[in-house]
Amino acid sequence: MASSDRGQFSSRFGFIMAAAGSAVGLGNVWGFPTQTASNGGAAFLLIYLLMMALLAFPMLVAELTIGRYGQSNPIGSLRKIWTNNRLLAVLFGTTAMLTASMILSFYAILAGWLIGFGVSPIMKLIGLQSLSEWLITFGTGRNVLLTVIFMLMTVFVVRRGVADGIEKWSSRLMPVLFALFLVLIIYIFTQHGAMDGLKMYLVPNWEHVNGGLVVNAMGQAFFSLSLGVGAMMVYGSYLSKDVNIPKTAGQVAIIDTGVAFFAGLLILPAMFVAKANGVQIFSETGELISSGNLVFTVLPSLFDSMGLVGEIVGVAFFALMVIAALTSSIAMLEVPVSCLQEEMKIKREKSAIILGLVILVFSVLIAANFDTLFDWVATASTMYMQPLLGVVWAIVIGWVWSRNALLKEIQQGYPEIEKTWFWRIWPIYVKVVCPIAIIMVFAYPFL
Ligand code: PFF
Repeated sequence: MASSDRGQFSSRFGFIMAAAGSAVGLGNVWGFPTQTASNGGAAFLLIYLLMMALLAFPMLVAELTIGRYGQSNPIGSLRKIWTNNRLLAVLFGTTAMLTASMILSFYAILAGWLIGFGVSPIMKLIGLQSLSEWLITFGTGRNVLLTVIFMLMTVFVVRRGVADGIEKWSSRLMPVLFALFLVLIIYIFTQHGAMDGLKMYLVPNWEHVNGGLVVNAMGQAFFSLSLGVGAMMVYGSYLSKDVNIPKTAGQVAIIDTGVAFFAGLLILPAMFVAKANGVQIFSETGELISSGNLVFTVLPSLFDSMGLVGEIVGVAFFALMVIAALTSSIAMLEVPVSCLQEEMKIKREKSAIILGLVILVFSVLIAANFDTLFDWVATASTMYMQPLLGVVWAIVIGWVWSRNALLKEIQQGYPEIEKTWFWRIWPIYVKVVCPIAIIMVFAYPFL
C-alpha cells in the first residue's frame, strides 16, 4: 500500500494527544496508584520515575523511530530494517501484534466494569435500583455485556482511521480527562484525611524496596508507555518526517508520567479519606486489603458516603477512567488492524470489525473463566512480553540497523541532532544498556 493511502496524523498536537492517549490509560489511573499504595508509597514512586527516565523513555524514542522509518505496520516496518532476515521481522512483528491483542482482551473486561460503575449511580438516581446493583456486581453476564459494549466503542473509533478516528477522538477526550482529573483532585483535598494519603505518597518508606519491586516498577513503566507491543511503532508510522522524535517522545513521556503522578495524588488521598469515613482499607497487619479492590470497593464506598455529591463525583471519576481506557484500547486494536490492512490487503473497516470480534471472543472466554485466565493473561502479556519485546526492539535499533541510517531517519525532524548529547549517548545506550538492564531486572529475583 502506498504510504499516501495509509493516513497520517494531521498535526503534531494531534499526534501528541493520540500517543499520550495510548500511553495514559488504566495503567496510569489504576495500576500506578494501586502499585504505589501497596509498595510503600513514595519509594515506589521514585523507582518508577527512574525506570521511566532510564529505560522506558529511550525505548519510546526507539519504537517511534522504527515506525516512522518503516511508514508501515510493525511487521512491515521491521521487515524494512531487517532486510537480511525477514523471517525474524515477521516472527517478532507477529508476536507484538498478538501481545497487543492479548492485552486488549483483558483490558476490555476491566474497562467494561468501569462503564458499569459509571452508569450504576445514574440508574440508581432514575430509580432502576436492581439494574444499578447488577451493573456493579461481579458476574459472567454483566462482565460479558459490558465488555461487548466497550469493544464496540473501540471498533467504532478504529474503523474511522487515523486522522478521523484515532486523532479526532484522542484530541477530544484527552483534554476532558485532564480537566476531570483536576476537579477531582481539588475536591478530594478539601476532605478530611487527605493529608495522610499525601504523606504516604510523598514520604518514602524504604523497607518495601526489593528486587520484586524493581521488576514491578519496570513492567509498570513499559505498560504505561505502551511499549513493546508495536502500538508506538504504528503511531510513529503515521508521523510526518518533519517531526522531532526525541522531543515529541519526551513530551508524551512527561504527559504520561504527569497523569500517573496526578492519579496518585487523587487515589492515595482518596483512600485515606475513605478510611476517615469508616471504610476499611488496611488489614490488621497494615497491608492494603486487596489491591484490585482499591478502585472497585474503596472508591465507590467513599462516593457513597458523600451523598448526592458523591454520586456525581463517582460518575465523573468512572467517566474519566473509561475515557483513559478507550484512548488506550484504540491504540492496541490499531496494531493488528494495521497488520491485517497492509499485509493481507483487507480494508480498514473490515479489519477493525473482524479483529474486534476475534479479540472479543477471547475476552468472553477470559470473562467466563475469570479465576483461571485473567491474572495469567495479564501477567504474561504485560510483565513479561512487553519488556522482552523491548529487548528485541533495542537489538533491532542497536545491532541490526546501521548507525548511519538511524541518524538519517532521526535527523529529518531534528537536523542538528548529531551535535547533541542525546545523539552521543542514546544509540549506544539503547544498544547495550537497555537490553542488559531489562534482562538484569528479570534475572535479579533468581540471583
Ligand atoms: N499504556 C496503557 C495504560 O497505561 O493503560 C496500556 C497500553 C496501551 C498497553 C496500548 C499497550 C498498548 F499497546
